[in-house]
Amino acid sequence: MEYTPKTFTLPTLDGISQKSVDEHLGLYQGYVKNFNAISKKLVEYAADTEANAHALSELIRRKSFEFDGMRLHELYFEQFEGLPAQAGGAKALDDNSDLGKAFATEYQGHFLEYFKAIASMRGPGWAMLYFDPIGKQFQAGFSGEQHLGHFVTLPVILALDVWEHAFILDYGAQGKGKYIDAFFKNLNWSVIEKRFSTAANS
Ligand SMILES: [Fe+2]
Repeated sequence: MEYTPKTFTLPTLDGISQKSVDEHLGLYQGYVKNFNAISKKLVEYAADTEANAHALSELIRRKSFEFDGMRLHELYFEQFEGLPAQAGGAKALDDNSDLGKAFATEYQGHFLEYFKAIASMRGPGWAMLYFDPIGKQFQAGFSGEQHLGHFVTLPVILALDVWEHAFILDYGAQGKGKYIDAFFKNLNWSVIEKRFSTAANS
């Protein structure tokens, strides 16, 4: 079955231009297209694994790159949309929500500073926040490119794309910090609160 690119109802973002969003959505659609193309090719290669051994191994290596690019961008854009029952747009974190309280316990008021430091790490990738329902704690990390360094099985709570393509149009190659600030200015925290609630109760 082929994957279909999702459409997003995005509000106008403050500090992330429509041009940048449109280019970024185009890249997202490219991941969906490439994942579908690789999957199709692998079915062909499976018919003669010996003759296709080298091509097959290369595509298998690329497969999670395309898949994770597809799924992470869906998580990323949904974070600006808000929940279906709400008006879209930025929404502050509710300190009295379960997520707000869990942050206070685990990060002692330093979550944002910590997560921004992860997002500022050098190299293309994603700053990620997961929640471990077994260990009952957050795991924050950095996924190199988009398929490396994930915490397997843990649900994603927050995903921040820090590839250059996310900010170079608006802020230039050295503008990652300004883009990270813009991301948080536009973030709808009710989406993140909902993800946490689902993960914590799973
Ligand atoms: Fe991206």
